[in-house]
Amino acid sequence: MPKLLLSKGYEVHGLVRRSSTFNTSRIDSIYVDPHDPDARLFLHYGDLSDSEQIANVMYNIRPDEVYHLGAQSHVRVSFDTPEYTGNVTALGTTRLLEAIRRSNNPVKFYQASSSEMFGAAVPPQSETTVFHPRSPYACAKVYSYWMTRNYREGYNLFASNGILFNNESPRRGETFVTRKITRAIAHILAGKEKFLYLGNLDAKRDWGFAPEYVECMWRILQQEKADDFVIGTGETHSVREFLHESFDYVGLDVEEHVRIDPKYFRPTEVEVLVADAEKSGKVLGWKPTIKFADLVKIMVDADMKTAGLEPIGKGDGIIRTKFPHRWWKCD
Ligand code: GDD
Repeated sequence: MPKLLLSKGYEVHGLVRRSSTFNTSRIDSIYVDPHDPDARLFLHYGDLSDSEQIANVMYNIRPDEVYHLGAQSHVRVSFDTPEYTGNVTALGTTRLLEAIRRSNNPVKFYQASSSEMFGAAVPPQSETTVFHPRSPYACAKVYSYWMTRNYREGYNLFASNGILFNNESPRRGETFVTRKITRAIAHILAGKEKFLYLGNLDAKRDWGFAPEYVECMWRILQQEKADDFVIGTGETHSVREFLHESFDYVGLDVEEHVRIDPKYFRPTEVEVLVADAEKSGKVLGWKPTIKFADLVKIMVDADMKTAGLEPIGKGDGIIRTKFPHRWWKCD
């Protein structure tokens, strides 16, 4: 998101949790020393559990747009930390909305709602599908979704929900299943590990390419009226399919290298997610161009490159997106 906003000429301010080790590696490529007169990205210490600091930042910066993407976002981890997840992922939204309401500034607010909120609802899932959350994380997101609508209806805030289905890229955290698979492939090929341990291979997800979704989030806040939008490709694939597609791409054998570890099973699973994103297509003029097979190639190639290996797709023209994010290109 910061990269897209910078490319559109915005000054960008981000909130960073204090940690004894560096936790900003994913924005290293766009970070410029704030003393540089051309710097347009600024980071502030803060935490979604700290309403005082959120209010301070809101007061000092007076933003035009707020993209609320912060959360304890790992579904499996939310079963181990339900209270913390509720505090950060659910109440964090209320803290932000309250800070905006009290600031009396005309701030546009984007809430990162999630397809996880649909949970057990019959696919395809659209803006009118009734939520049936299946994890503490999903319950927290449903709360945040409704708080966003409540502040829109009650206080006339420009507050919109983007209900994003799974969106992936080489920057995906290493413990989410797509990246876990592509990174393991690179490590196996580099001789660093032999086995990849996974949980439920039958779950199906609507996987898209994150940089395209970021553009959509921006468009949601450029509308005349606040509203809610489902964003996804409309295609679904199982974890097993992702596994085979990516292993086949590099010529590795799934049977030889993949093992099931029940510790990755979830007490309640979301079986099938498929977006019905017709409204986004019509209202936002948005259509994803990178689909499943290309996504797999982009992620595998990027992880191979990181591991010091020659990417398979070098020069084969798989990067076809018209969006200005070129960092995943394997050249
Ligand atoms: N993480 C993980 N690790 N998932 C596994 C594994 C494993 O070893 N093995 C199988 N899976 C299955 C999970 O059970 C799930 O059905 C599926 O792979 C996808 O898991 P994740 O990649 O962890 O993503 P998620 O779908 O649970 O949640 C992601 O997408 C949501 C949008 O729908 C997260 O990014 C959420 O924050 C986001 O809201």
